[in-house]
Amino acid sequence: MVKAMDESLGITVPVALHLDHGTYEGSKACIEAGFTSIMFDGSHYDINENVEKTKELVKIAHDAGVSIEAEVGGIGGVEDGVASNGEKADPAECKMIADLGVDFLAAGIGNIHGVYPADWKGLDFDVLAAIKEQIGDLPMVLHGGSGIPEDQIKKAISLGVSKINVNTELQIVFAKATRAYVEAGKDLEGKGYDPRKLLKPGAEAIIAECKNKIAVFGSGNKA
Ligand code: 13P
Repeated sequence: MVKAMDESLGITVPVALHLDHGTYEGSKACIEAGFTSIMFDGSHYDINENVEKTKELVKIAHDAGVSIEAEVGGIGGVEDGVASNGEKADPAECKMIADLGVDFLAAGIGNIHGVYPADWKGLDFDVLAAIKEQIGDLPMVLHGGSGIPEDQIKKAISLGVSKINVNTELQIVFAKATRAYVEAGKDLEGKGYDPRKLLKPGAEAIIAECKNKIAVFGSGNKA
């Protein structure tokens, strides 16, 4: 829980400050800076180097009381300059990383970051089940959560996915609402150019979409 984010701000649920797709050095820096959770993305290293670096970071993170997510098998698409071909993770490699004591495991199962192409084949539930068999109760993370059909999301949850990362869909609703505000000329009315007004419709659109996701994912009132 982030210390400053408490009832005095009207926040009544636990809040994590999480690093997503961190490098080895970036993960260490964020632990030092007070993040409550990090993801070390070593999926672009060969498995032995991923194991070695993840192992070191598990110790550093846990000594500092910080949770750590690791990744096996790249998630396709491009995000913040991190790209991969979306290979499906090898369940045996997933076990090697899981056995290091990470708190969550992200593994490629056909998911990709960004907008899914029209010919996307969907999540590979056979791979997901095979990984789950190797890693037991360790919570799995589904990256590239934007645009995955609801039935596939629900099936993934039923098979052991506990955290779903959604970014692109929130960016899209933000852009759409901001565009509507500007195209309606509202930035030219009164003090409509004030960033607090200009960015408000987009922020509200993100909140509405988050509420929708919480309902679809079945995570309401579970904090
Ligand atoms: P999307 O942008 O595809 O929703 O992916 C988000 C994500 O996985 C962040 O790590």
